Amino acid sequence: MAFVEFRDVSKIYQMGEVEVAAVRAMNFTIEQGEFVVIVGPSGAGKTTLLNMLGGMDRCTSGTILLDGNAVSSYNRKQLTYYRRYDIGFVFQFYNLVQNLTARENVELASQICKNPLDADATLDAVGLADRKRNFPGQLSGGEQQRVAIARALAKNPKLLLCDEPTGALDYQTGKAILKLLQDTCASTGKTVVVVTHNTAFTAIANRVIHVREGSVAAVEVNENPLSAEVLEW
Ligand SMILES: Nc1ncnc2c1ncn2[C@@H]1O[C@H](COP(=O)(O)OP(=O)(O)O)[C@@H](O)[C@H]1O
Ligand SMILES: [Mg+2]
Repeated sequence: MAFVEFRDVSKIYQMGEVEVAAVRAMNFTIEQGEFVVIVGPSGAGKTTLLNMLGGMDRCTSGTILLDGNAVSSYNRKQLTYYRRYDIGFVFQFYNLVQNLTARENVELASQICKNPLDADATLDAVGLADRKRNFPGQLSGGEQQRVAIARALAKNPKLLLCDEPTGALDYQTGKAILKLLQDTCASTGKTVVVVTHNTAFTAIANRVIHVREGSVAAVEVNENPLSAEVLEW
């Protein structure tokens, strides 16, 4: 059985009289430990699908499985635990708590978990050994995203989900963040999913899921993904 499976997953938003089909009968699988890129143009349904996988949104129909569990039939309490223990989330705009230091931001997340990783070790791993006492406002965009990644990893989640993690960063910094995510996947064996509109990122993935107008247009498996270090776009 695959680690992640979407079976005929649909999401319809009701906007008054109008129905918006954000995701339509999506099917795909992800294997444990893969570095996955989900790519598609703006409005394709990428965030909707990631939020459903992360337990932040519910599907209208279909089944979502993670590690043998039907996440799509979880009740509210189960979803709370799922988001807390199983999922690490990284957003485009970092979403750090501004009046907590880098270390405190990471501890905030690890304190609510069952088997958290050490906050200091996680910050060391993302290259922030010297910036732990800094507040987000004293860090660059790339450094803030590293804190956000450390915060997600410190929870020791089953899945690391990243929605346009380089969207607010310049070229070189974005590339460094992609490399960090790719290296983290390789060194920890965590399953990492990166959502992007940038088709160039597909070259560094083990698995690429192409999304168009709410549907999976194609799935590719790369036998020899490129290192993010040599990626250019
Ligand atoms: N909460 C919502 N209510 C209504 N429509 C939504 C909502 N979220 C997303 N949509 C619509 O669903 C479609 C897919 O959106 P989204 O998943 O954000 O796409 P992407 O992340 O690929 O840009 C878009 O047409 C968007 O307007
Ligand atoms: Mg989006």
